[in-house]
Amino acid sequence: MKTLNVGMIGYGFMGKAHSNGFAKANHFFDLKHQLKLKSVCGRTREKAESFAKTWGYDDVETDWRKLIERKDIDIIDICTPNDSHAEIAMAAAAAGKMIMCEKPLALNGDQGQQMVEAIEKARVPNMVWYNYRRIPAVTFAKQLIDEGRLGRIFHYRAKFLQDWTINPELPQGGAALWRLDVGAAGSGVTGDLLAHCIDTAIWLNGEFDSLSALTETFVKERKHNLTGKVEKVGIDDACTFMNTFDNGSLGNFESTRYARGHKALYTFEINGENASIQWDLHDLHRLQWFDYKDEGPLRGWKSIHVTDSDHPYMNRWWVPGLAIGYEHSFVHQVADFIQGIESGKPAAPTFRDAQKTQRVCDAIIASGKDHTWHKVRKD
Ligand SMILES: NC(=O)c1ccc[n+]([C@@H]2O[C@H](COP(=O)([O-])OP(=O)(O)OC[C@H]3O[C@@H](n4cnc5c(N)ncnc54)[C@H](O)[C@@H]3O)[C@@H](O)[C@H]2O)c1
Repeated sequence: MKTLNVGMIGYGFMGKAHSNGFAKANHFFDLKHQLKLKSVCGRTREKAESFAKTWGYDDVETDWRKLIERKDIDIIDICTPNDSHAEIAMAAAAAGKMIMCEKPLALNGDQGQQMVEAIEKARVPNMVWYNYRRIPAVTFAKQLIDEGRLGRIFHYRAKFLQDWTINPELPQGGAALWRLDVGAAGSGVTGDLLAHCIDTAIWLNGEFDSLSALTETFVKERKHNLTGKVEKVGIDDACTFMNTFDNGSLGNFESTRYARGHKALYTFEINGENASIQWDLHDLHRLQWFDYKDEGPLRGWKSIHVTDSDHPYMNRWWVPGLAIGYEHSFVHQVADFIQGIESGKPAAPTFRDAQKTQRVCDAIIASGKDHTWHKVRKD
């Protein structure tokens, strides 16, 4: 069994989620490669060492360039804020590394396009961590749609609601709060939250054609943690948009960090001519299913507990009826990436796939500014 050494950059929220994914993949999936947590890179040595000790990495680096230069690293895993994805990914591609990059791929579509070109020129295996595709109930939705059970799709509706930035005293920038700094994040809820909804929508319902968006920044100025000055806030705090898809269906999306009471309410609903589907991240192992074929008096919404061994991924876990959670989507993503390399059929979303989401985000931001309909650019 060949070993693939992982070099991970950034050890925050996603650093943990990914380390757990790499650590568990060989335990639950039959892979021809053994994944090894080799080195973790962070700018503060002591913190990186503490993380390495907790998760079992062999060593640490404090400069990601050094990690990329190392001959003993096979996979570069990018878990840093959005403004560093492009530079790291393009350097890793030039060094011939396999790359797993956090979402959103880039700060904007033009930067994303440069990344796609660099990665494809280097011909290195690549993937972007749109992990919600790999929650079994979401993967099951994809299976049902691909089997044609919904028939023609009319509507796609999604939202991703949070409430953690309502306090106007919350600063922007720096550790933990880089998401509020447009320079580090590229955009607000659009690239952070809607990007997930858009990726899932493209996967389930195909590409976006055109859209019209409304964006708002409720708190216009915040102290910046890095400069100590009160500065203009450049991110979108909330966004709602409607769109057309290439398949003729209509979309309706909303995201905000100002929905008091909601922490991570990602939901979607799809209405087809024969059937409808609903999914809710707060109840992630369930898929709500309405089938018009059901006998009249018994027709109604069914709640399918997606934990049986014939549901996607579930034969890898416990006995039927026992649920798995958020973290398992990362284990699935690692396993699929490796199986993609082994089979020669790359697992999605690749950088090229994720770039489609980037172009939708560009159209949202542009439409939020000029209040007109925008065609989504296809690269
Ligand atoms: N797939 C998902 O569901 C999901 C969820 C959260 C975040 N993300 C994405 O993951 C990325 C990281 O987000 P997070 O929530 O883990 O952030 P975080 O702030 O928790 O962690 C970021 C890490 O990057 C490190 N870092 C920053 N600049 C660095 C540099 N130059 N060199 C080395 N390390 C550096 C920080 O020290 C920190 O350890 C973002 O792109 C974000 O959009 C994805």
